[in-house]
Amino acid sequence: MLAPCLLTLASFLLEAEGQMSSSFSRSLRRDGRCIYSFSVAGPAEDACSEPGEALAAVRELRSEREGQQRELAELADRLRLLESWVVRSQGQLSGQQGESLNILQRLQELERENRQLRAGHCPRIGRESRQGAQSLTGSSSRQRTQPDGRASSWSFENRGFQELKSEITEIPASSLIQRSDPGGQDTAPDSSGCGMLEWVGDPVTFQKADSILGKYGVWMKDPEPVPHHTRDTIWRINTVGTDVRLLYEYNDMDQFVKGHPSKVYVLPEPVESTGSVIYRGSLYYQKRKSRTLLRYEMKTETILVQKDLTNAGYQGVYPYSWGGYTDIDFAVDEMGLWVIYSTHQAQGAIVISKLDPKTLQKEQTWTTTIRRRSVANSFMICGILYTLNSYSNRHAIINFAYNTNTNTSKVMNIPFENRYRYNCMTDYNPAEKKILAWDNFNMVMYDIRLSKL
Ligand SMILES: *[C@@H]1O[C@H](CO)[C@@H](O)[C@H](O)[C@H]1NC(C)=O
Repeated sequence: MLAPCLLTLASFLLEAEGQMSSSFSRSLRRDGRCIYSFSVAGPAEDACSEPGEALAAVRELRSEREGQQRELAELADRLRLLESWVVRSQGQLSGQQGESLNILQRLQELERENRQLRAGHCPRIGRESRQGAQSLTGSSSRQRTQPDGRASSWSFENRGFQELKSEITEIPASSLIQRSDPGGQDTAPDSSGCGMLEWVGDPVTFQKADSILGKYGVWMKDPEPVPHHTRDTIWRINTVGTDVRLLYEYNDMDQFVKGHPSKVYVLPEPVESTGSVIYRGSLYYQKRKSRTLLRYEMKTETILVQKDLTNAGYQGVYPYSWGGYTDIDFAVDEMGLWVIYSTHQAQGAIVISKLDPKTLQKEQTWTTTIRRRSVANSFMICGILYTLNSYSNRHAIINFAYNTNTNTSKVMNIPFENRYRYNCMTDYNPAEKKILAWDNFNMVMYDIRLSKL
């Protein structure tokens, strides 16, 4: 029943897009009966739901389905790459057995995951809307990948390779700190509630993504929202796939947990990785395959500012240790908007720039002594950068701090739990004084405590 209904709805909406006053469409049901649908102008403008909203929903369903097909192809590529890698490395196994065995275990997991996907046991694609989407695109010859997941070729540029590479090369960050100054003048909490991080609580899980598209992603709140958004509004982007453009908006935590978005934005430019933030009504993000920073204003649904982050490495030159093209990471704290990256000049060390949120101009830049590739993630609190030593170790630590107020660095040892063992996003929210993270399909939040005066 649902499929013809949606088809009808879709054709109606497609027509409605061109001609708003009245429209008409026809469709054929499987039992041979025709359905005629038409619409007329309503008595009042808000008597019907906005065609724009429904259209966006149909577009979302369509691209979600396409995304899933792409993801299947990507996984198949990844498996092929992993298989060839295993064959090549089997000869070297005896030398470094411990490490290689770990990797092999991970490969076997991936292989199992992939076999399930090929067999059609996709992670639950349960909801009605998803079924609708399948019939929608299934009936219109839009399939671009083969349903069994076979894809034409693989390349070293794909995400699977990025990830694998980083898993092999992850090095304990502590061994890479060249210089530190534990006697630095760290700020103490002041009237703005600022201070030095001294404790992180256990993660609280709020939401679990229900499709493979949700393995990596970013979820965000706006510490300085503009009307009609509030501090309760939540945004989410699933970042698996090659053309990530959907920004989901939820009215509050309750709707977020239920998975009911109130709005979906289709971004004009695709998103790279998990570094984006929401601040003062705009989404700040890195444009895919570039060092271009974008400011997308949600109210007008347009990109207001585009600016290249001069000399910044991108696409896996200086990513965080988990890979995934995480070369450029925005952050927001009590002081404003920041971007965390690296350059050739800095020889891969973390560079922090304070940005003007209106123009994306750099206000000031600091170069730290910690290698960007050696840390799993980083975030800013009160003008101090903190780094996380592992994305996959359940008992990770916040191992390093760089204070932009004093230009000093400090070795830290604050426990941080990666409960689901694959943390791909860690951001601080200064309005709530909490850390938000995306850990292996799970959207989690951590309480923190700053040092008191
Ligand atoms: C810290 O470094 C920045 C950027 O290099 C510089 O502009 C600033 O004057 C320095 N501040 C202190 C307190 O040394």
